[in-house]
Amino acid sequence: MMSPFTVKEMSEIDEVIERARELVEPDSNTIEKARIAEKEIEARLKKLLKYYPEIEFRFLGSYARDTWLPESLEIDVFLLFPESYTMDELEKIALEIGISAVDTHELRYASHPYVHGTVKGVEIDIVPCYRLSKIEKIKSAVDRTPFHHKWVKERVKGKESDVRLLKRFMKVTGVYGAEYRIKGFSGYLCELLVIHYGSFLNTVKEAARWKRNLVIDPSRKKAHPKKGLENIFVIDPVDEKRNVAANLSINSLARFVEACRLFLRAPSPDYFVPKTPSFDENRLRAEVEGRFVYCVVFERPPVVEDNLYTQLERAEKRIRKLLEENEFSVMKSSHTAGKKCYLIFEVLSGQVSPVKKHYGPNFENYTNSMKFIEKNREYSRFFENGRYMTYRRRKFTEARDLIEHAIRSEYRSMGKDISEFVKKGRVVERSEILKYGELKAHLSDFLGVG
Ligand code: UTP
Ligand code: MN
Ligand code: MN
Ligand code: MN
Repeated sequence: MMSPFTVKEMSEIDEVIERARELVEPDSNTIEKARIAEKEIEARLKKLLKYYPEIEFRFLGSYARDTWLPESLEIDVFLLFPESYTMDELEKIALEIGISAVDTHELRYASHPYVHGTVKGVEIDIVPCYRLSKIEKIKSAVDRTPFHHKWVKERVKGKESDVRLLKRFMKVTGVYGAEYRIKGFSGYLCELLVIHYGSFLNTVKEAARWKRNLVIDPSRKKAHPKKGLENIFVIDPVDEKRNVAANLSINSLARFVEACRLFLRAPSPDYFVPKTPSFDENRLRAEVEGRFVYCVVFERPPVVEDNLYTQLERAEKRIRKLLEENEFSVMKSSHTAGKKCYLIFEVLSGQVSPVKKHYGPNFENYTNSMKFIEKNREYSRFFENGRYMTYRRRKFTEARDLIEHAIRSEYRSMGKDISEFVKKGRVVERSEILKYGELKAHLSDFLGVG
């Protein structure tokens, strides 16, 4: 039997959710604007495709399913090619058609290059894919999209606003988007979760108890733990082998689970309102002055975001490894990009001893012990638990010098599009870092004062 307390709690949370629905629903002006753009793009594509009668266009993605968020209206149009077209033909023709169909455009990259543009002020993606009879014939990831749409479209009916709630909740939490910068939940994954659990609230309640070894199987309406799994696996209903949550990081998962628990404890519409990042300037300055924080700053290279973030992560890992190899104890490292690119490192101490320990053989090893003894050394030998030891001078005693060395001579291994930019970058430390205003919010977070 439910206690009156539980009943009250339930109605409070329902009330908050009902209020939040208004925050995620597009208003009639936005819908009207979208419809006008939709009709226009439809008319243009019909005309353009007269020359290619075997190519078909379809509206897919969140616009077609009515699960889009008002602040990120974007119409996804897919050009479906018969399998007889080669990949090169598909790419070439799709770009041609796409560019002619929109008012302004830029090229973006998923499985293929595609056109991102605007039509009557509304953002449009025009993406090519193959029209396949069976998913087994798939040639690239986007070929699944028509199958995704078919699976989701009917099942999501009546739950559109729950999907919007989940997307916004995740956005505010910083875990919406499968792109490399976020490593979070894709739109399609949100739709699957709402279908699987039935509603936004039920998704939140279940997710509050998620463990990393969970397998969710929406097509069989089942979920079970799997031994050894390191992050949740959401079986794609249209392709059993594929994990829809493949791009989700374990930290994004943890962040989402935490947000679900906090929301259940104290429901509030605030969970659906984008936060403007705020930080305490004085506290940030004090922390950055008192700790050993270093930042590599360099110009942003002209590459697509996903590639940029992959390479920033690689460069960060590379420098972190060098610091550790040189016995600087790294507490945390991070990367981000705005107008410029930043790699950030915090070490336990910015300075280490001018000497490092050099390990020799155990005394039992006659031959190697004699070799060790006969070498000319700057420091005398000693034993540690029966093992020969001595000291050696180290090359880098300052973390700053090592990072400087890393970007000047080890830049080649830091990502093909960014390496030359890294090389020309500079190392800044302490309050000097605060000159880069766009970095302050990220830095506050990084130092635990966000
Ligand atoms: P979107 O990234 O536009 O996602 O991809 P979405 O579902 O419409 O969500 P929002 O509201 O814009 O954030 C559109 C569709 O294209 C497919 C997905 O199935 C998605 O539903 N897609 C997208 C891929 O298959 N691969 C990709 O790399 C990108
Ligand atoms: Mn979309
Ligand atoms: Mn999108
Ligand atoms: Mn899109």
